[in-house]
Amino acid sequence: VSTRFIYRTATSLDGFIADPEHSLAWLFAAEHVPERLSEHDAFLAGVGALVMGGNTYRWVLDESDLLTHPGRWQEFHGERPTFVFTTRESPRPDGADVRLVRGEVGEQLDAIVGAADGRDVWVVGGGELAGRFHAAGALDQLHVSIAPVTLGAGAPLLPRRIESARLQLEAVRQRAQFIEATYRVSVPG
Ligand SMILES: NC(=O)c1ccc[n+]([C@@H]2O[C@H](COP(=O)([O-])OP(=O)(O)OC[C@H]3O[C@@H](n4cnc5c(N)ncnc54)[C@H](OP(=O)(O)O)[C@@H]3O)[C@@H](O)[C@H]2O)c1
Repeated sequence: VSTRFIYRTATSLDGFIADPEHSLAWLFAAEHVPERLSEHDAFLAGVGALVMGGNTYRWVLDESDLLTHPGRWQEFHGERPTFVFTTRESPRPDGADVRLVRGEVGEQLDAIVGAADGRDVWVVGGGELAGRFHAAGALDQLHVSIAPVTLGAGAPLLPRRIESARLQLEAVRQRAQFIEATYRVSVPG
């Protein structure tokens, strides 16, 4: 089985993954279901490498105070290599396999697939970066958990046009107050 690139994220009903202050409080305020955690573990088991943009990385570091508690990184991500697209020099939690990269997505694809070692790549976000992976022919699945909230503004889910011919709905279900939808994504033609 070859590596798939999966953009998996929670989103507001109106298509934002963070509010204008980069907060996810709106997400945590929505009803939570315990089994979502074990499902997330099952998803992670199939993931060999992660990809994220600089703002997402800095948010993750701050949210869990990872520089002070570097062991938490392993709890979340295990040994998985994480590629962070950023122009800045950012700190890394001790022992974490965090690789700071920049520039064209296409130039990093071989390294990312190699790091995933036969498993999938989790494109964590943000949306512009996910769009660049799509443009580079490296987006196979979009998995969204749609929270029952509208934000009006914030960080966009996927700020580019992908026609319906390239998005095939494969699964949808209700999880408490969330809609979970999985789309197969085909490369730009
Ligand atoms: N709802 C969810 O489940 C979820 C999931 C993921 C993220 N989030 C949140 O959503 C927000 C996403 O932020 P965002 O939309 O700004 O996206 P982002 O991708 O996290 O960050 C964008 C920044 O990453 C750096 N970057 C991106 N691509 C690059 C490239 N090719 N080369 C060099 N640098 C590059 C640039 O800044 P620098 O050079 O300054 O680093 C860019 O401004 C964050 O607040 C995050 O916490 C939410």
